[in-house]
Parts: sequence; C-alpha cells; structure tokens
Amino acid sequence: MIRRVVALVLSLTAAAASVRASGPDPYGAGPDTPAHGVADAERAWRNYALNCQGCHRPDGTGGADTAPALAGHLGVFTHIDGGRSYLGRVPGVATAPLPDDQLAELLNWVLWRFDPGHMSPEFLPYTAGEIATLRRAPLRTEADATRAALLAKAAP
Ligand code: HEC
Repeated sequence: MIRRVVALVLSLTAAAASVRASGPDPYGAGPDTPAHGVADAERAWRNYALNCQGCHRPDGTGGADTAPALAGHLGVFTHIDGGRSYLGRVPGVATAPLPDDQLAELLNWVLWRFDPGHMSPEFLPYTAGEIATLRRAPLRTEADATRAALLAKAAP
C-alpha cells in the first residue's frame, strides 16, 4: 500500500513535469494515436500521463514493483469472460479522479494504444454509463486473485 502511495505521488510529480515539458512521449503515445471510443485522444493521453504512467510507465511496460505491463498484453482481457468488467473495476481505473466519460475514453485509449494486436475483433468501446456501473464496485484486495483467475482462463 505504501509503495503504491509513493508510486502515485511520484507519478503525479513526473506526469506534471512531462506534460509541461514534452508533448507526445518518445514511445509514440500521443494525440494522434488511433483508437475507438476516444473522443479526444490528446485528453486521453494527458489523463494517462497524470493518473497512470507513474505506475504503468509512459510506454505501458509497467514494472515489477509497481504495475503489470499493459503494452502487448492488455488485449488478452478482451477475449476472457469477465475480463471486460475486470478492466473497469481494477483499482487504478475505478478510483481514478476522472468523470465517467473521460475514464471510459481513457480505458479505450489505453487498450488501443498499448495492445491493438491482441484486441478482440468483437470488442465494443466502453461507454460512460458502463464505466459508471463498473466503478461503483471497485476491486480492492481481491484484485490480484481476480486477475490471476482470469489469466488462468486465457491459458491455451
Ligand atoms: C499506484 C499504481 C497504479 C496506478 C496509479 C494505476 N495502476 Fe493500473 N494497475 C496497477 C496494479 C498493481 C495492477 C494489477 C491489479 C492490482 O493489483 O490492482 C493494475 C492493473 C491495471 C489494469 C488491468 C491490467 C492487468 O494486467 O491486470 C489496467 C487496464 C490498468 N491498471 C489501467 C490503469 C489506468 C488506466 C490507470 C490510470 C487511470 C492506472 N491503471 C493507474 C497499478 C496502478
């Protein structure tokens, strides 16, 4: 928990600096990133920088001490029964200080930005209404176990 709080504080500090200083990050996440269910990609990218990248890193690769990699992996949840609701209820998403519409946009952006290659062709973008419902039941200490159970279903 303390580690997460520290990471969050570092995230906010670093993100504020990076939004000020740099524009699109060196890995290509930026306003031009194509995505479905994203009304304003620049806003999504900025919300990611401010709220998520301290743990998940600007390029979505995560880190052993902070958060799992989103890059090259996240799309797996779009194929697993229960994966869709998991992504809306995982603590970092559900408790983000963003309104429902911007959070739906951000989650859609993150999926297409970091793992377009593994997205289910049947995936429909999250909507504000769906996110409003999911985030009302955020995962807490059970997040890890829920994640593991879902990924076990994905094993070939
Ligand atoms: C304090 C660190 C932290 C922050 C900040 C954070 N996350 Fe996470 N995220 C995690 C951890 C840890 C997990 C794994 C599940 C769990 O234990 O909570 C996770 C899981 C996820 C997942 C599910 C992917 C998987 O492989 O389980 C998504 C999607 C996600 N985060 C997106 C976001 C978004 C979007 C934001 C910003 C709004 C965000 N996270 C902010 C730490 C963080």
